[in-house]
Amino acid sequence: MDNIKLDLKNTKITEKMIEEYSSRVEEIHKQLHDLDSKDPIGWLELPTKYDKKEFERIKECAKKIKADSEVFVVVGIGGSYLGARAVIEALTSTFEGYLTKKERKHPQILFVGNNLSGTYISDVIDYLQDKDFSVNVISKSGTTTEPAIAFRFMRELLEAKYGYKEAKKRIYVTTDKKNGALRELAKKEKYESFVIPSNIGGRYSVLTPVGLLPIAVAGINIDELMKGAKAAQDKYNDSDVKYNESYRYAVVRNILYNNDKNIELLVAYDPKLFYMIEWWKQLFGESEGKDKKGIFPEGAKFTTDLHSMGQYIQDGRRNLFETVISIEQTGNDLKINADEDNLDGLNYLVGKKVDYVNKQAMLGTIDAHVAGGVANILIKIDKLNPTNLGHLIYFFELACAMSGKLLGVNPFNQPGVEMYKKNMFRLLGKPGYVEEEKVTEEKEIKKKRTTKTKKETKETKTKTSKTKKGETEKETKKTTRRKKKEE
Ligand code: PA5
Repeated sequence: MDNIKLDLKNTKITEKMIEEYSSRVEEIHKQLHDLDSKDPIGWLELPTKYDKKEFERIKECAKKIKADSEVFVVVGIGGSYLGARAVIEALTSTFEGYLTKKERKHPQILFVGNNLSGTYISDVIDYLQDKDFSVNVISKSGTTTEPAIAFRFMRELLEAKYGYKEAKKRIYVTTDKKNGALRELAKKEKYESFVIPSNIGGRYSVLTPVGLLPIAVAGINIDELMKGAKAAQDKYNDSDVKYNESYRYAVVRNILYNNDKNIELLVAYDPKLFYMIEWWKQLFGESEGKDKKGIFPEGAKFTTDLHSMGQYIQDGRRNLFETVISIEQTGNDLKINADEDNLDGLNYLVGKKVDYVNKQAMLGTIDAHVAGGVANILIKIDKLNPTNLGHLIYFFELACAMSGKLLGVNPFNQPGVEMYKKNMFRLLGKPGYVEEEKVTEEKEIKKKRTTKTKKETKETKTKTSKTKKGETEKETKKTTRRKKKEE
């Protein structure tokens, strides 16, 4: 299957430069494939090694939810919602959310638990008042504050609306197989539940039940999605950087990074891909931004942002490069009609389609930015469908793992995100955190005291030895003078 192509001609990076990475790429490829099933690499073979029974159960549940719910509320943050949202927005109508119950073929998908705004949750609650809805709470750890708070409200609302017993039938839990508060709750309340494999981290989990249930409820064919990912798994199982486009993308990023290009803009010309950019930002940002290294992943929505960020990209500091996702065959398109008065001067476009204009904008922008010193990587997708998105997701996940390893960081952990949580918990007075803070403070004071005492002892020693030295010098001088006198 060749419906995704990588075009590197506007990067100024030669084949020779890419091939210099051959042995490192081969080594990392081997490393990734040799990792144990306990290592966080479960996504690598997921398109062939997923739980088929659970997959069928997801489809069954999606059917039930479609039958009894107007709205499906997805509670999750980071890797526990971005992938689902990216696929759903790419493959459903832009104004799906505005359709009436009658017009709608599938439940509307609402996302909560991805912020801590009381206003947002309160708006969701108001919106749900007169609607039938179900809830999918997704959290691998089962302890993340944002989704935990939102879920508490959603559960209360469900129980108030349907009663305790009926509410249970409308709650779907996606979490770790054994651990965490959410697994405990699912067991206790006997909620329908799905498993996030322990060897797949949040940002690599869109093709697990994390993404699959919401995507299926939105009416998207998840068999096709997995088929695309499987095609990618086969295609990119090649350790040779000459032929593996996913690895070529990783290598080119690394070469650019080593040439002081430390910002990458993922660009899309269709609003349908805007959440794909958000998903990609998390994937690369959390995987690579560590040990004071990493390309800063940013997104740009063109042509919209050409009217806000265009100036900087064209002419600002030259530390960025662009990766453009181009959709070759667009969906519904419109022809521009003639206008007798032609006051807007657009008659030169009569008979042309809007997407044709968009494509020329893309080609013109790439040329301009390349001329302005912005290297351009082009990823061409022949059209937006579940198969190609499954393929693209796998392409990026694999490239991200390779890229992180080339950079010399661990692309599967995220120690840096704990810092804000600790501070927030301390400020909120979460049990365990105030005490922890006291212990840390006491340790710091002790450490400071010990350092001070050590410093003081050292200073006293130096003083004593100086005094002694001074006294000895004085005495020597005295003796010399006395001897001279005697002579
Ligand atoms: O990629 C990650 O691991 C994170 O972004 C998580 O997905 C995010 O923090 C949510 O975590 P959890 O699913 O445990 O609630």
